[in-house]
Amino acid sequence: MTSQSIRSLPYVSPAATDAEYAQARTQGWLATSERGFEVLTYDQGWEVMSSKEFDIGGGFGNVLDAVGLTEGPYREEWNKIIVCNEGDARDRLRKPFMHLLKPAQVAKLQTKVIELINGILDDIEDPTDVDFMAQIADRLPTQLYCELISAPLEMESEIYRITNSINPPLLTFNRERLQESEDAFWEGMAFLRDHIEARRGNLGDDFTSELIRCVDDGMIAEDEMMSVAMALLIASMDNTMHQLGLTFGTLLEDRTRWEQVLARPTAAVQAGEETIRLCPRFNVVARHASREIVVGDATIPADSWVMVATRSGGRDESRFDAPDAFQLGRPPSKALQFGGASFSCLGATLARLEISQMLRIVAERFPNIRLLGDWEKTVGPMVTECARLRVSLV
Ligand code: HEM
Repeated sequence: MTSQSIRSLPYVSPAATDAEYAQARTQGWLATSERGFEVLTYDQGWEVMSSKEFDIGGGFGNVLDAVGLTEGPYREEWNKIIVCNEGDARDRLRKPFMHLLKPAQVAKLQTKVIELINGILDDIEDPTDVDFMAQIADRLPTQLYCELISAPLEMESEIYRITNSINPPLLTFNRERLQESEDAFWEGMAFLRDHIEARRGNLGDDFTSELIRCVDDGMIAEDEMMSVAMALLIASMDNTMHQLGLTFGTLLEDRTRWEQVLARPTAAVQAGEETIRLCPRFNVVARHASREIVVGDATIPADSWVMVATRSGGRDESRFDAPDAFQLGRPPSKALQFGGASFSCLGATLARLEISQMLRIVAERFPNIRLLGDWEKTVGPMVTECARLRVSLV
């Protein structure tokens, strides 16, 4: 792509509306924005995310820079976490997750997930007025995390507070909450240090015990154990909470969508994928070109950022018929929002299990679930938050 043809690419804002993305797609698969190139289409999105030629250019470190966390002990701890690493260090740090969260391992959690969901729904005292986020969506990933690491369920509110104070202020570029993020990070580290120590002499079948075994077996170094444990504390909850809210909001805002879910109880996994396509938690998957890279008919210049715009790729009309419609029975397609190649989300199977089981069980127990008032979501450059979702379950 010559500099002339780059100049003729459409511009899209990182917070473009669905209509603006659709308009940009009429001009091709690539656009520019103030943060670099934006990939608008599904197939090219996968091509970029799966390519070994791209790197992540410092990864999450760029978010930390943008929010003003550029130096000091808090930044140094972040630098040890997988999302800020490339090369051998990241390959090594991925191994314990791949081991602990592999599909066969996650399948074993199905019974526990079902039990937790039923317990959460049983706890609801007034089913006619439910804050879906606080009373349902926030609770499942938090309780599951407690189960994963073998922490008592009584720690649910404490864990929720810690995890929601660390990452969300950064993902939403909220400088005012930076101190809260740092305080929660140290609190999380202190908790996990004690928790791991207490588990050492009493290994079981949980993530913490497996992590200790990973160190004993030489898979990771002793000093990397805390970074892996912190990555799980940071990454395993808030994204799933918001996706649960976005999934139910998307289904309930149009009754015909929810009716499709009720009509096909065995299609809960597909229903989850379809809502992720229409309303993903992650709006962008970032890749970096350290040198010139050819993608299709475009040559991406060295030192460029290429952003896979998941909200656009999910509604790509060249890939999906009637792209704005919720339709079960589409040909299978993998959601863009979990990324790809050696950077992909390591908890995608677990997140999908949580979402699909929640859909299946709510549909079975509370088929008449409906919105109370409008639901609200906040679409940011990086993530979408489910801000308000009040429902009646009956
Ligand atoms: C709906 C829920 C979730 C969403 C939307 C999500 C999204 C993402 C995204 C976009 C990435 C970066 C992918 C890339 O650059 O190619 C990622 C990485 C990661 N995710 Fe998730 N995630 C979710 C749930 C989870 C869960 C439940 C866990 C753990 C149990 C988890 C653990 C991780 C880890 C450890 C990484 C870092 C991988 C690496 O850098 O190599 N995620 N996630």
